[in-house]
Amino acid sequence: MIQTTDLGVAVEHALRAPSVHNTQPWRWRIRPEAVELHADWNRHLPVTDPDRRDLVLSCGAALHHVQVACAVRGLAVEVDRLPDPEDPGHLATVAIGPGPGDSADAALFPAIHRRRTDRRRMSHRPVPAGYLRKLAEQARRAGALLVPVTGALMRQRLTAALTEAARRQEFTPGYGAELQLWTRRYAAARDGVAAASVAPPPAGLTGSSPLRRFPRAQLSQPRQPPGHGPADDAAELLVITTAGDGPLDWLRAGEATSAVLLAATRMELATTPLSQAVEAELSRRELQHEVLHVPEHPQLIIRVGWPASGAAELPVTPRRDLSSVLLPS
Ligand SMILES: Cc1cc2nc3c(=O)[nH]c(=O)nc-3n(C[C@H](O)[C@H](O)[C@H](O)COP(=O)(O)O)c2cc1C
Repeated sequence: MIQTTDLGVAVEHALRAPSVHNTQPWRWRIRPEAVELHADWNRHLPVTDPDRRDLVLSCGAALHHVQVACAVRGLAVEVDRLPDPEDPGHLATVAIGPGPGDSADAALFPAIHRRRTDRRRMSHRPVPAGYLRKLAEQARRAGALLVPVTGALMRQRLTAALTEAARRQEFTPGYGAELQLWTRRYAAARDGVAAASVAPPPAGLTGSSPLRRFPRAQLSQPRQPPGHGPADDAAELLVITTAGDGPLDWLRAGEATSAVLLAATRMELATTPLSQAVEAELSRRELQHEVLHVPEHPQLIIRVGWPASGAAELPVTPRRDLSSVLLPS
């Protein structure tokens, strides 16, 4: 007999999942032998994320985290995605199944508490192709594809698409207000993006930074050794794509995002999810047709690289307590 407390503990670990602007747009119901994941539509960012894709993707990341947390406790799971056609907010039910936990998922567990979004300059040391292949395999296992943006031209086009997406959003009424709302939380807030987790763009970049601009940035960039050339780093940009483009695909894309981020963290790589180019619809189409040239739909960009030498440990990001996100059983 599975203890309800085992499931509560697994959900508590899942709360460490990344989410757009750290909105943590999820609610959980713990039942005997199963956990339900529900979207919290009150935490939706209507201007930044009009289709609710980022929201569902963030919940997908939490769904993968809970599977990993069950696996490490030796629990096998069966996941029913979008189980109730009458209730689109009921995103998944994770039922405890027979047999032992998945060992590949269990191996990712330590990374749940070590992973952070790193928005600083990364190292000039390239990420080996073999590592990128392993990350792509993680995405595939979770039901999505991971497409590396390789080659100078493709990379240049992607950076241009990201810059254009940022410009489009900047001129979208309400975008700035949403950003302010989620970056200027009150002192004891358990959500939102703190200035201590955001670095200003590094000085000396040859092009524009692919990262989202936040209003406040108090995190120091790692020091660049003198005479080291431009500040550009060797971080890779990888795109999560899916064959379809509905809520089920977004959920899968979120699960794949979590699998890639956790596996990269295990490899000691630093990671940054980047969603601006998929939030602005025109930029998303450019990314699909003019950068990637694929029929699949881009869902999220993941920046992956070695941390720069001397980079300080990143602060722990806040999360709401379990009791704040539980629905009555
Ligand atoms: C769907 C999604 C979109 C995100 N988009 C961005 C982004 O465009 N820029 C960024 O710096 N971080 C982005 N993030 C990272 C979140 O801001 C981050 O997960 C959250 O602030 C919690 O911090 P942590 O990842 O360090 O735990 C995104 C995360 C998710 C899941």
